[in-house]
Amino acid sequence: MTSKQLRQKFLDFWKSKEHVIVPGASLIPENDPTVLFTTAGMHPLVPYLMGEKHPAGVRLANCQKCIRTSDIDEVGDTTHHTFFEMLGNWSLGDYFKKQAIEMSLEFLISPDWLGLDKNRLAVSVFAGDKDAPFDHEAYDIWKSLGLPEQRIAKLPKKNNWWGQAGLTGPCGPDTEMFYWVGDLKKIPDSFNDDSPFWVEIWNDVFMQYNKKADGIYEPLRQKNVDTGMGLERVLAVINGFDDNYETDLFKNLIFKIEDLSGKKYGDSQKITKAMRIIADHLKAAAFIIGDDKGIGPSNTDQGYVVRRLIRRAIRYGKQLGINQSPWTKEIAKVAAHDYTDVYPELQKNIGQVIEQFKEEEIKFAKTLEQGLREFEKLNSQEKITGQQAFNLYQTYGFPLEITQELALEKNQTVDKSEFKNQLKQHRELSRTASAGMFKAGLADASQAAIKYHTAAHLLLSALRKVLGDHVIQKGSNITAERLRFDFAHKEKMTDEEKRQVENLINQAIKQNLPITCEEMTLNEARAKGAHGIFETKYGEKVKVYTIGDEKLYFSKEICGGPHVKQTGDLGCFKIQKQESSSSGVRRIKAVLE
Ligand code: ALA
Repeated sequence: MTSKQLRQKFLDFWKSKEHVIVPGASLIPENDPTVLFTTAGMHPLVPYLMGEKHPAGVRLANCQKCIRTSDIDEVGDTTHHTFFEMLGNWSLGDYFKKQAIEMSLEFLISPDWLGLDKNRLAVSVFAGDKDAPFDHEAYDIWKSLGLPEQRIAKLPKKNNWWGQAGLTGPCGPDTEMFYWVGDLKKIPDSFNDDSPFWVEIWNDVFMQYNKKADGIYEPLRQKNVDTGMGLERVLAVINGFDDNYETDLFKNLIFKIEDLSGKKYGDSQKITKAMRIIADHLKAAAFIIGDDKGIGPSNTDQGYVVRRLIRRAIRYGKQLGINQSPWTKEIAKVAAHDYTDVYPELQKNIGQVIEQFKEEEIKFAKTLEQGLREFEKLNSQEKITGQQAFNLYQTYGFPLEITQELALEKNQTVDKSEFKNQLKQHRELSRTASAGMFKAGLADASQAAIKYHTAAHLLLSALRKVLGDHVIQKGSNITAERLRFDFAHKEKMTDEEKRQVENLINQAIKQNLPITCEEMTLNEARAKGAHGIFETKYGEKVKVYTIGDEKLYFSKEICGGPHVKQTGDLGCFKIQKQESSSSGVRRIKAVLE
């Protein structure tokens, strides 16, 4: 089965179960301060999991491109990736455990769908602890469907609980499905999650709790199902491969790396690992730069992730003896070609990707040799100090991982915490890109972000009132601490214009205008004068948020929400900075005080 057929089968199955197929979101999260990237299919759906109404209804499914950097150290094995696709289905307060599990099983084993062998299947359910009880319901459902008890493992929170990385917000027990990819004759009676032959293929999360800041898990009013099936893994499994890199999602990338290096995949463990890392990292970096909200290499946030990925790939390329220069762009071209049907944006933005890859490669090549020589000088030391690692970073552009990997090859250690201290002092990296971006809980962060989201609507309207109707929104980025807003406008705003915009917004806040939401067709929204992107994102119906009176409104925009209920919640709006973002586009940074 090809990846294209598998995606289609998954979506067709859920369509046949009355789910609406919604488009995937950008890799760069909108209005979400909690993560750098879209890490799961549920991520763009958080407001709807918290109770906001989704215009497409209560049963959704899609295929979502994702980036996860938390598994980066495991990339190089057969199943972990930085960029991957997640197939998912959701029940927003509709069906729950019984139907979710029954339908998952049907998709996996029915000959009409994947036709997998039920004898090779095992599952795990939540064992229970002080916060929430054993999920006997899920256990009983699997049993009633004929799974032998030894194949239903009861595992702790570490394995069978899902929520965003320890943060507050919607979460709950999950049931994971595993498939035995080893010899059927050697399949054990009971499931053991340590064996590499049991590959996790699907995760059904039962979001029935809200984790509060005080650590209490309170039952959610709306109980949701959130599932995630890794496309790469399942494709390997159904084709009988024990290595995801043998599937069509990687094959051409590996061929290209073989071509460039003159080495053969599989010839040695070292070669295989290097090729996997190069394929994975450059595909991921290409997708981040080639996203419609693309971000290039830099020293902060997402840009730093891109930089690390490209530089790490270059180092492994060197290990393989690739000596053409620049070469990384060749991998990006293959990825763009392979994914052109599913993610046309990568092909569309490939010029940009090639440019950035080339530039980064040239930049790094200049210092890589010198840096390696510098590193060699530390040969006699057992431990590389934070200052030395920082010097390699600052002068030679070595991301910490590269220094750590080089050190590991020589049995040296690196003082990571001191490195981070140094980094902080130099304020190069405001937030470490691999860690979560926001320390407080998801709920708190979301609350703050929602205010900024509403402020963005006020800002667009105020800009149009002051500068004119040519002003349209070109992008926005919201954290719990500030709003960044890009809009079409050629000239720098004068101080007087800035003051007028601030005044208009602060007046609207003082008037404590109500914010209301209505669902309608796109044509109706247009007729009512709503702003926003006039593409039907979610089928026919869209949501329109109005700030102020229905007729004499301050702002009317097509938008998924959520928003605060009254403008009075916002505090005082202040423009901190304005700058040029790109040609004909201005950028405003603003805060609520
Ligand atoms: N959100 C769940 C996961 O990522 C389905 O595994």
